Amino acid sequence: MEAVMANWEDGFRYEDKGLSFFLTGIKNFWKLVGPEQRAMKLGFYWLIVTQLLALAFPYFLKLIFDDLPEVLKSGTISTRLICFIIIMFAVKISAILVTLFVKETIFIKGVIRLEAWWPVLAQSKLLALSLGYHERENTGKKISKIEKGIERMVEICVKLSWDILPQFIYLVANLTCMMILDWRLGLLFFLPFAPAYWINKRYYERMSGDWEKWEKKKEESSGYFTQSLLNIRTVQDFVQERREKERLQTVRECMRDLDTDINMTERYYIMGIRIVLNVFFLATIALGVYFVLMGQTKVGTVVFIITTGNVTIEGLGEIFNNYSKILRNLVSVNRLTEIMNDDTEITNSSTAFVPTTTIGDIRFDKISFNYPGKDQAVLEFFDLQIAPRQMIALVGRSGEGKTTVAKLLCRVYDVNHGRITLDGIDIRQLDRDWYRRLFAIVQQDVDVFDATLLENITYACRDATPAQVDEAIRAAHIHTMMEKQDRFPDGLATQVGERGIRLSGGERQRVGIARAYIALLNGAKFLVLDEATSSLDSETELAIQSMLNSIRKKLDVSIVAIAHRLSTIRKADMIYVIDGGQVAESGSHEKLLAQNGLYSRLVELQKLGDLRK
Ligand SMILES: Nc1ncnc2c1ncn2[C@@H]1O[C@H](COP(=O)(O)OP(=O)(O)OP(=O)(O)O)[C@@H](O)[C@H]1O
Ligand SMILES: [Mg+2]
Repeated sequence: MEAVMANWEDGFRYEDKGLSFFLTGIKNFWKLVGPEQRAMKLGFYWLIVTQLLALAFPYFLKLIFDDLPEVLKSGTISTRLICFIIIMFAVKISAILVTLFVKETIFIKGVIRLEAWWPVLAQSKLLALSLGYHERENTGKKISKIEKGIERMVEICVKLSWDILPQFIYLVANLTCMMILDWRLGLLFFLPFAPAYWINKRYYERMSGDWEKWEKKKEESSGYFTQSLLNIRTVQDFVQERREKERLQTVRECMRDLDTDINMTERYYIMGIRIVLNVFFLATIALGVYFVLMGQTKVGTVVFIITTGNVTIEGLGEIFNNYSKILRNLVSVNRLTEIMNDDTEITNSSTAFVPTTTIGDIRFDKISFNYPGKDQAVLEFFDLQIAPRQMIALVGRSGEGKTTVAKLLCRVYDVNHGRITLDGIDIRQLDRDWYRRLFAIVQQDVDVFDATLLENITYACRDATPAQVDEAIRAAHIHTMMEKQDRFPDGLATQVGERGIRLSGGERQRVGIARAYIALLNGAKFLVLDEATSSLDSETELAIQSMLNSIRKKLDVSIVAIAHRLSTIRKADMIYVIDGGQVAESGSHEKLLAQNGLYSRLVELQKLGDLRK
């Protein structure tokens, strides 16, 4: 993925945008068509039938014209001629009906099914991708890639099945017919097709960079748009509305200029190609008439060329025009494929298993970890143990890697070196989902969904019983916050707004604690608290701390508490002080104080105010 992104950054390369780019793009597209491949193939076979029927009409017209001199001479209409006329009409009607059947029944239905399926496919892929990917890409860009990709895939489906493939089949069949009927006329008619292809190729080479630039600008603009709305509070607090507007405007203006340039250039190229093709078409007709007069070809052949020639030129224009659009659309499809091919998922190994019993002894065994794309390791030769039913605390200055330890513990990332074990088994050998369900986490910034309080609390276990919900809201002191009737008029059914915007920081933390509590009641074995009570008032924090201590015994869970506040840390059985990517000190509160090292310095600072300083 990194490599692919780097290529995009490098800019475009002309040679990549020719036929090979088209074929790779179509291959990517075909993979994404997935379950509809069979229907699409069937549609393609039917397209051949429709195009042959479309050519059969002028062919019978040719036969009729070939017979006309005889008819004029004899003055009687032969049965053969009547048969030709009847067949010609039958062919025309069948062509209309079959085309309708292919387009309406096979392709449209297939595209509608794909339109419903692609977003689900994209979402499940995005949800499976590692946190690393999500931390790298901003939400607006991701959404733009997916939406644009899907929109463009639909366009490709429609253009391929409506315009490009039928016209292409017609063109090949017509070339064959003309060469058989009179190779000299056929050759003259098709002679300019090669230079037309070359002109078209030049056009793609010129434009592909602009298309790619346009796509990137589109993602950028989408990113700015979303970011400004996601961070609306900060934008307004710091009166940055104008700056946000100007940022978006600059990108959109660049897109506008690119758009104008692309469209104008396209018109010139298409016009040039059409003029060349039509000149040769007229020359073919003139030569055909001359051959007829010389008795070297039949009049029907010229009629056939006149009837099919126009359609072929229009069709070729259609192919060139749509080919360029498809190329442009393929840029989006390739971007969607990048996401689909991203392999940064934390996946199960082929031998992953669920152990029959769990004691709950976790060890970090000389692990090292650096975030993807970063050279500097956050943790190096880092050791840690979480014994069953123990409460450990992670302490350290901001940015030392406490949250990173929690992420590695829950296997959101895999370590680069060393290993983390559960009861002696490397966690990479355990079933990923089973392992993750062992953890009830309250994150530093609690994720809150735009849903009701109850839906947020029961997010981890939707079938939590009312008794469990009641226990959880008491444990997290949500009941005290709900006692303010006017703040939560609908009780647990109150909508909390996007990202819990209608909740205070402390209220969001309580939601997080209640959510984790329900997970504990439903089988989680480790409670991970990442600054989980930092926004609570001291009274509520103390009440929650003592509640957490009591569930440790009652539910047989271990607790990993990351905190700056002394009140949380001192109760831990084991305190690990992280410094410089390693455990600098470890032991009980008393033991560490007695050591008079980093911990005692941090404690002194905290007594003065804040451990973070
Ligand atoms: N997704 C990420 N990609 C790259 N670097 C990251 C990422 N997340 C954190 N870091 C870096 O890793 C280091 C450790 O971050 P971490 O969040 O673990 O610190 P922390 O000890 O929890 O700090 P705090 O007390 O402020 O929460 C920091 O230098 C941070 O900049
Ligand atoms: Mg942190």
